[in-house]
Amino acid sequence: AASNEPNQRLPIPEPLRPDRVTDEALYYTVRIERGEHRFFNQGVSTETLGYNGNLLGPMIELPAGKTVYINTINQLDEPTSFHWHGLVIPGAEDGGPHQSIAPGEQRQVRLDIDQEPGTLWFHPHPMGATAEQVYLGLAGLLYVTDQTETGLPNEYGVDDIPLIVQDRLFTADGQLDYDRQMNIDGTVGDTLIANGAINTTFDVTTNTLRVRLVNGSNARNLDFSLSNGEAFTQIATDGGLLDRPVSLETLTLTPSERADILIDFSDLSLGDDLALQADGIPFTTFTARDHIEQDGDWTEAFTEAPVANESSEADRRLTLFGMGNMVTIDGKQFDPDRIDINVRQGSTEVWEIYNREDMMGGMTHPFHVHGVQFRILERDGKPPPDNERGWKDTVAVAPGEKVNIEMTFRETGTFMYHCHILEHEENGMMGQLKVD
Ligand code: C2O
Ligand code: CU
Repeated sequence: AASNEPNQRLPIPEPLRPDRVTDEALYYTVRIERGEHRFFNQGVSTETLGYNGNLLGPMIELPAGKTVYINTINQLDEPTSFHWHGLVIPGAEDGGPHQSIAPGEQRQVRLDIDQEPGTLWFHPHPMGATAEQVYLGLAGLLYVTDQTETGLPNEYGVDDIPLIVQDRLFTADGQLDYDRQMNIDGTVGDTLIANGAINTTFDVTTNTLRVRLVNGSNARNLDFSLSNGEAFTQIATDGGLLDRPVSLETLTLTPSERADILIDFSDLSLGDDLALQADGIPFTTFTARDHIEQDGDWTEAFTEAPVANESSEADRRLTLFGMGNMVTIDGKQFDPDRIDINVRQGSTEVWEIYNREDMMGGMTHPFHVHGVQFRILERDGKPPPDNERGWKDTVAVAPGEKVNIEMTFRETGTFMYHCHILEHEENGMMGQLKVD
């Protein structure tokens, strides 16, 4: 297989330009297309999928308080869907397996944006092809924004950059090697890509750099750290700012979890390098080029009192179990015609998610619920770590562990909940929730 040799500037996904903007609404167009991408220096072209391009997609800004219409177009020769991961929107717009779009067809979705600013993403979710379509390149960024001045770095592409980190396996001739049969727990790759590129570099011109990390892998957990072993500061979780910034030397993200982190470059001499690593492997190298001081004091973004995560009795208990093809939730595999859970709109529930070990021990399942952001109340009866005290839509549940989460179901419709190891989701580790 090809190795990690390329060394290239970190690609920054283009902000998507709206087709039209009115006082209340923005109109965008996103098309899924086939493409070719050069991952390697030797000029090999890799067949890929992308949104409005060859690989990955643009960054779509979703201003809070606005209505966003997105015309979604499927230019593939197979069905796909557009799932807005982490958005609190009605089930009919959510883009799960029931809203797949036939080849050549299009569909307009309406998204009323009403949630905290945060780093979300979108990806396909059709029955039976989610994992492969994501693997071949379909993943895009959604930034929920608002006008509040936080003092946090927010100049896109300068001191505020996204990093979609994914592991990939390439064949000897440089093609993405997706083999579902061989890898029933997910294809775990030996090459890390950041925003679609291998071994990237980025010039830092400010004292503080904000990095929005997205684990966009199908199945691999990533442990992030800095090459100098120094701490960085996590400021946000999946769906918004943390209650308090947290200093960390390593941060684990399971598939689909996100975190905004701040990296301090003020002590680096100009020209010095600092790499971001995953599992000890450097994949993006930052070079200090200048020390421009940003305006504003970002610590002021965290002056509100932390939300009290009060534990309470679980309203429901869900059991995750198994590996490979034998993955279940509450002993069942996904059935598109079966509703597993009914809840009333506006109700708040506590779910206890239990990952039952098997004889082999089992594995960590990143548990995701569509259409909500939740809070983690407890991990095995204890308060969650400080860097999980914020809005979440995906939570890692380790073998043997019980995690209690609390959420309010604001929107009606049918929603999925599932393991975000995409191969587990496809093997049936998914259920349906109906809110009405
Ligand atoms: Cu990120 Cu059901 O999805
Ligand atoms: Cu799983």
